[in-house]
Amino acid sequence: MNTQVLLKSAYSQNPKLLPQEIDQLLALALHKKPEYIYKNQDKELLLPAIKKFNKLLRRKQQNYPLAYLRGYQEFYGLKFLVNKNVLIPRPESELLVEQALKFIKKIKNPKIIDLGTGSGCLIIALAKNNPRPAEYLATDISIKALRTAKTNSRRLGLKNKIKFIKSNLLNKIPQQKFDLIIANLPYLTFQQLKEPSIQQEPRQALLAGKDGLKYYQKLLKKLPAYLAEKYLILLEIDPKQKNQLESLIQQSLPNSKIQFLKDLAGNIRVIKIFK
Ligand SMILES: C[S@@+](CC[C@H](N)C(=O)[O-])C[C@H]1O[C@@H](n2cnc3c(N)ncnc32)[C@H](O)[C@@H]1O
Repeated sequence: MNTQVLLKSAYSQNPKLLPQEIDQLLALALHKKPEYIYKNQDKELLLPAIKKFNKLLRRKQQNYPLAYLRGYQEFYGLKFLVNKNVLIPRPESELLVEQALKFIKKIKNPKIIDLGTGSGCLIIALAKNNPRPAEYLATDISIKALRTAKTNSRRLGLKNKIKFIKSNLLNKIPQQKFDLIIANLPYLTFQQLKEPSIQQEPRQALLAGKDGLKYYQKLLKKLPAYLAEKYLILLEIDPKQKNQLESLIQQSLPNSKIQFLKDLAGNIRVIKIFK
């Protein structure tokens, strides 16, 4: 069977998938870029490649994201390995990196911590793009996520630059003063977790109790003891949490300033707390 015939039959048998998605899966099965598919429509395909393609199609029908199928995701111009133990980095989280980079420019040898590091995308993108000395710490409650983050750090040339620690929020972090705290902790509710496109991602990376605030609420109580005199805290949030979070912050950090930043879709996505 050639490429064209195989694709035609896959398009008609998988009406829920976009033709481009199906093309990408075939490219993946052949270990080629999608352009190859378009340029080789008459190419006869071997049985193992066809079997691999059919397996990928079945996975895609079960809502497996392409990033898990191919094993990586681009974030902030870098390639991060991903697997079922880590959340797939989202483009909107790049906002945290941009803001963090702006802030650390002004500080000499800043101490930085990333809570709930997952694939390590935030702290690694930060360390790769900050040309000046800094101390980097990253935590996660999942040892498997930390292993992936460490691998990403090493593959991206940052061996030993970032310290990775298994910790439930700040529990295992000795008290010290951080200039910058970044966190994209789970913030979804049970209801939001039903969304089909996120079914294959780790529940532990997404769910945060009834109101989605379980972790940020706990964190905000502990944070004051860990802050340098001048600090910046960047939290990724759900737009609906704005008002509740604002009052939680006012309780824990009454002297701080608060700003909300919108993502490219125009939704409030990041909360900036600073002094
Ligand atoms: C939404 S994901 C974010 C991952 C990554 N920072 C990113 O932006 O793609 C949240 C991460 O927090 C971790 N996590 C969940 N509960 C935690 C806790 N109590 N303490 C530390 N990390 C936690 C999860 O394992 C997951 O890796």
